[in-house]
Amino acid sequence: MADKALTMDAVNPNIRDMEYAVRGPIVARATELEKELAKGANKPFTSVMKANIGDCHATGQTPITFIRQVLSLCAYPDMMDTCGFPEDVKERAKRLLGGCKGGSVGSYSASPGIDVIREDIAKYISDRDGIPSKPEDVMLCTGASDGIKTILAMLMTGKLGKERAGIMIPVPQYPLYSATLTEFNAYPIPYYLDEENHWGLDVKELKRAINEAKSNCVPRAICVINPGNPTGQVLTRQNIEDVIKFAKQEKLMILADEVYQHNIWGEGCQFFSFKKVLSEMGPEYNKMELASFMSASKGFMGECGARGGYAEVVNLLPDVKACLMKSISAKLCPPIIGQIVMDCITNPPKSGEPSYEKFKQEKDNVLALLKKKASMVTSLFNSIEGIKCNEVQGAMYAFPRIFLPPAAIEEAKKRNQTPDAFYCFQLLETTGICVVPGSGFGEKEGTYHFRITILPKIEEMTSALERFKEFHLAFLARYKSN
Ligand SMILES: Cc1ncc(COP(=O)(O)O)c(C=O)c1O
Repeated sequence: MADKALTMDAVNPNIRDMEYAVRGPIVARATELEKELAKGANKPFTSVMKANIGDCHATGQTPITFIRQVLSLCAYPDMMDTCGFPEDVKERAKRLLGGCKGGSVGSYSASPGIDVIREDIAKYISDRDGIPSKPEDVMLCTGASDGIKTILAMLMTGKLGKERAGIMIPVPQYPLYSATLTEFNAYPIPYYLDEENHWGLDVKELKRAINEAKSNCVPRAICVINPGNPTGQVLTRQNIEDVIKFAKQEKLMILADEVYQHNIWGEGCQFFSFKKVLSEMGPEYNKMELASFMSASKGFMGECGARGGYAEVVNLLPDVKACLMKSISAKLCPPIIGQIVMDCITNPPKSGEPSYEKFKQEKDNVLALLKKKASMVTSLFNSIEGIKCNEVQGAMYAFPRIFLPPAAIEEAKKRNQTPDAFYCFQLLETTGICVVPGSGFGEKEGTYHFRITILPKIEEMTSALERFKEFHLAFLARYKSN
């Protein structure tokens, strides 16, 4: 120890204090359990179901053929004329390789990404919103996470104490936000989503949150996740307009996390991008600074490992935009493979092209199964005593509220765990189901939740939910009678 330069005391305290529940201690225990099972340990279950993270392929989702074929040809163009790939796949690979320096995916691209891909993304956004989008406003990133961190870094004040940047984040939230704010020593301004109102976003609450924070920081931006993670709500257009008006009043940049834009399940729910709404609100609003984020990891493709994503950043002052470009140039460029995946998603095969039918069928299949599981999970949870779950309107998670008996809460305290962490660990040890305690995402004092993904295969989900119900009722019975 004495000869080490980097002891825990010396580590950057902002990194030391960072927490990221989605890969936290419960997941470490789940991995240990898997190893114990592999060694033949006797457990009340035969496999561990990792429903803790939105990693689609890890839970068995089949890759989309078109994406993998284009990737294959781009990585190994020698297969172009030998492996019988469809013509549109070959054309796409040639076009993309034409955009790569030296015609190889092994070369760096420009820092904001390959030009033809930025053009395809801008066209996708224009078609989606009916509002023009410019390739110069699009930057590819290493997953949406990287884009979000890049923009948050731009917003820091570089000062301490009350002059720190304040960033408004939802609670519950995807912990990338809280972790990054800790890492950057920024001041989180939590605003609570309204569980009683479908996890909706209430402007009164936004005002309360910012007013309480103003004496502690310099508010710079508001982050909104739509569709929500972990809460699964889809914001109405009215809700989005209200947020934009609020941001304008408070002179905040908007960070719109729209990585689940293809994952809309609720009856009557529709995805509206912040860019569309803001642009349609007229001259008073359409020059506001906005960054919106999309990912290769979610939707129907679920290509998490490709680390693809993009940010569309609009209305920055020219010198600020130059500064942003400088900041990303220090990272060289996002992975070319991830950029190619983003291209296939935003410029999919069109009707009449050889890959269209298969692409459509595979995409529709994945989305239909997710939709089925979203409603299956909601109705099952709501049928169990001591659980209340808002409809999973979008995204890939349910975030049910669990009403725990006082004796269970006492027991958790004795074990130095939050009550929902105690519950989730017990669930894991009894059933092999790994979910994330609500406390990892933030929740209202005195309420307890967990987040479960809807990604595992439907048969696996069905049997896991049965085991879950049995566990939950036994847990209630045990602590009620204490
Ligand atoms: C709301 C939200 N934003 C961003 C991300 C990060 O995605 P990526 O894999 O593109 O970095 C996730 C991942 O789960 C997410 O849920």
